[in-house]
Amino acid sequence: MAKEVVKVPDIGSTDPVDVIEISVARGDTVAREDIILILESDKATVEVPSPLAGSVQQLLVAVGDRVREGDPLLELETGETGARKQDSDSANIDDVRGGDVAKLSSEEPDHAKTDEVIARKTAPAAPNNNPTGDDPQKAVSPAAAAAMPDQQAATAVYAGPAVRKLARSLGVDLAAVKGTGLRGRIQHEDVHEWARQRLQTAGTATSFPAASLPQIDFSKYGEIESVELSRIRKVSAANLHRSWITIPHVTQHDEADITDLELFRKAENRRLEARDIKLTMLAFLVKVCAVALRDFPDFNSSLDVDGERLILKKYIHIGIAVDTPGGLVVPVLQNADRKSLTEIAAEAADLAERARERKLKPAEMQGGTFSISSLGGIGGTAFTPVVNWPEVAILGVSRARTMPHWDGNNFVPRLMLPLSLSYDHRVIDGAAAARFASHLVTLLGDLRRVLV
Ligand code: COA
Repeated sequence: MAKEVVKVPDIGSTDPVDVIEISVARGDTVAREDIILILESDKATVEVPSPLAGSVQQLLVAVGDRVREGDPLLELETGETGARKQDSDSANIDDVRGGDVAKLSSEEPDHAKTDEVIARKTAPAAPNNNPTGDDPQKAVSPAAAAAMPDQQAATAVYAGPAVRKLARSLGVDLAAVKGTGLRGRIQHEDVHEWARQRLQTAGTATSFPAASLPQIDFSKYGEIESVELSRIRKVSAANLHRSWITIPHVTQHDEADITDLELFRKAENRRLEARDIKLTMLAFLVKVCAVALRDFPDFNSSLDVDGERLILKKYIHIGIAVDTPGGLVVPVLQNADRKSLTEIAAEAADLAERARERKLKPAEMQGGTFSISSLGGIGGTAFTPVVNWPEVAILGVSRARTMPHWDGNNFVPRLMLPLSLSYDHRVIDGAAAARFASHLVTLLGDLRRVLV
């Protein structure tokens, strides 16, 4: 065992920066390159990854502290006595990062060093094949990443700070821009060209003029209160907006007869009570969706950004929309197809609890292939969930109700669960969506079909 002090890495400036978020607590075990905290200056937001694996012994800073390069951040007990240390003046962020875990959004053109870091980290990948966004306005904190639909926290766009600033001023998502510079680096011209093409397309798409959104002084009409949106809400708003305007949504509605499932669930819960396990409706939905996704691989895919290819994923990671005080968060239950109902129930409960406590790690909110938004515990008969890009479908679930069902001779009471499946119509045809939803109905109606 050895004790190591993790210090502020080279952040490209000697000015003090703010500690805006701490992602670990005393006693936590961290892997090398897990994000431990986030620093923010007026020029950049930097996620600081752990240079070593170990357990956190002591936090040496608090949120709101101002720190400089070389300042101690936390004390780590490592298992490796000969573990690689940070140099005393070290902590070169490029060195510390190792992989592509760190992300940094820089805004000013004089921030050449951080820009260079991005360049080196992203150069091997063709930037235009990277469908993940890198909007410089998004601070990639765990809380922010909580609301991110996918791998945004793990990748970066190959562009300099000045170009990023330009993109932001024009409202251009750099992830969508093809770079023509060396090794695919995005240039000023690329951003202008992208914006020009967009304007042209918008102009030809409709001749009906769309009104711009003026600032409105609502106080003219009565008393108001202006409240700053939480970081999660800002990021999820941007992501939801992107999904809504870029994905042609259709929602397929259906109803599953869960009378037998509910009887089984309640009976199992009585049996499992002693083990402190609760099989939730959500756990059954995850299980059934995992089976259906295996049977309908197109629903477990992503459309390449250039619209030329469909990327079929051989893994099934299901995102679960969780309502938290700070806003919507979507932790991901990985390899749902390989887990038992009790494992899914326990994991989903743990993810939802930690989402509400803002204790999720960025990696736990990435890599989803399909999402479930369950509002059944709250109410409603149907709704239109927004597809969680880059996924292509999402299942919305409303409140189950006992309904009269004609069995051929009589009306009998059956517990019916409303399902609302939204999908990307570029990838999925209406008939396929109807079949997928119908498959879910079959599986929920007779759980034995899950085994087949
Ligand atoms: N119909 C009727 N009752 C339902 C139901 C359904 N579809 N789903 C859950 N319930 C009931 C459960 O039976 C449970 O009642 P009980 O305590 O008497 O057993 C209660 O509602 C709570 O259910 P629980 O299983 O504890 O939670 P959940 O599965 O409903 O939800 C989350 C878990 C994480 C999905 C939920 O807490 C949540 O955050 N939902 C909101 C998601 C969201 O915001 N989506 C919007 C995205 S646009």
